Amino acid sequence: MPWIKVAKVEEIPAGSRKVVDIDPDLSIAVFHVDGEWYAIENRCTHDDGPLVEGDLVVPYVVECPRHGARFDIRTGDVLRMPAFEPVPVFEIKVENGEVYVHVE
Ligand code: FES
Repeated sequence: MPWIKVAKVEEIPAGSRKVVDIDPDLSIAVFHVDGEWYAIENRCTHDDGPLVEGDLVVPYVVECPRHGARFDIRTGDVLRMPAFEPVPVFEIKVENGEVYVHVE
């Protein structure tokens, strides 16, 4: 798949996030943090928790709302159990006021 337009910039103000359903099997959480943009799969690798609803315990670390696993949203790396597998991350860019995510 190519770059997919997921939102207008003003729909995701700094400090907020949005879920984008790409297809029935793929939901992506887009985060706008400190002027940076990140996109991760909206599914915790422990037990499918909705990561978009998690707190950012530091600007780049999301905590799963279900059992508290933590992931680096820049890389997808697991930082705390009970998850062991990294969460997929996606390239993201902003052009002409629109946000795009690259999905393979
Ligand atoms: S579903 Fe995320 S920690 Fe269990």
